[in-house]
This record gives sequence, C-alpha cells and structure tokens, in this order.
Amino acid sequence: MKIFLDTADVEEIKKAVDSGVLDGITTNPSRIAKAGRPFESIAREILAMVPGDVSLEAMSEKWPDMIKEVKVLAGWGNNAVIKLPMTRDGIKALAILSKEGIRINLTMVASQNQALLACKAGATYVSIIVGRMDAIGMNGMEVVRDTKEMIKEYGFGSQIIIGSVRTPLHVLTAARAGADVVTVPYKVFDQLFGHPLTDGGLAQFEKDWSKVEGEVT
Ligand code: E4P
Repeated sequence: MKIFLDTADVEEIKKAVDSGVLDGITTNPSRIAKAGRPFESIAREILAMVPGDVSLEAMSEKWPDMIKEVKVLAGWGNNAVIKLPMTRDGIKALAILSKEGIRINLTMVASQNQALLACKAGATYVSIIVGRMDAIGMNGMEVVRDTKEMIKEYGFGSQIIIGSVRTPLHVLTAARAGADVVTVPYKVFDQLFGHPLTDGGLAQFEKDWSKVEGEVT
C-alpha cells in the first residue's frame, strides 16, 4: 500500500520525503488555503519536491471549464494528477480527459455506486472519504472493501485512495481492506512510527549499552 501525505505544508512534506517511505501527496482547496500562498507557486514547489504523484484539485464547476483547467494544471509537472469532484460534470470531464491519457483523481467519493461511475469513466485514482463517512455513522471501510472487489471482478484500472484519514486505525484498516493508497495528515503519518513498547525497549537497551565497554570501529 502506498502512503501519501494529505497536505500543502512544505515543511511537513520535506520531513515526510526525508523519511524514505513517502510515495506521494494529495492536496485539496482547504489545504492550499491553509498554506497561505498563491496556488501556482505552492503547487509547483510541491511538484518539484516530491518524487511521486501530487494531486491538485481543479475548482471549475462545469465540464468544459474543468477540461480547460485540468489541462493547465496537468502542465505544471509530469507527476501532477488532477482531482475532479464527484459530480455529473466531474464524471463527464473525467471520461473525456482519461481518453486523452490525463491522470485524474476523482474525489469526494462516498458510495460504491459513485466509485463504479469513476472507474467506468477511467479514473486513475478514486478517493473514498472514509473519515467523513465514519463521522456520520457510515462504515467507510465496508465501501472500500466492496469497491476493491468490484474493481477486481470487472478488471477496472483504477486505484483506491483512502482519504479523510483521521487516525492511525484508518491506516491499519485501509491495509486490511486492500486499499492501493492511504493519504494521511502529517500527525497521523508521524504516529505510525511510534509505539510505547518500542520506545520503552529501546530506552532499556540504551541504558544497558552504556555499561558495555568497547566501540564499533
Ligand atoms: C483526500 O484527498 C482528502 O482526504 C480529501 O480531500 C478530504 O479530506 P478532509 O476530509 O480531511 O477534508
């Protein structure tokens, strides 16, 4: 399973790239707004920093405008993947753009039927907003598991991204559900590294090691 960071904060991205286990980045309009910089400048900086895919969201509402906007955004970097929303216009624009080989991340998907439409229209990634679904009493991972089965059954080429991640448990259950990608806030990414048993055991080793004579040369 690939791990993406869901952020537009360049300091967080630097640390995650440096960790050696980051596969890509997703952004959305809220993350870009929080960064407090012009869209093109921050987007180009992130595209250059990250070896893997970077999702940038197109904000046009009508499909002809979406197509124009997606083509501009896709030109900002070879690793740019463009997010389109789960709307009728989003699906129509996706169907047209995917035929031209432009990679689209169809976002804000909250049902298997929506995922079916995204897969049929040729999405590279389908972002299922598991945390938002769980927050209203749905079982987000159930939709992920069913969507994974559907993709296998019909041989669709789309990959599932688990979005709206809120806790490390979402990462664990994403892996169990067979998600292709999980995109996480930096706080959750950082939490993946730690465990009290690891920390306690290593502290004990360090204490005992200080009693051992000799050096590794
Ligand atoms: C995936 O790309 C994101 O998680 C999606 O944009 C929504 O995230 P949020 O629910 O944290 O706003």
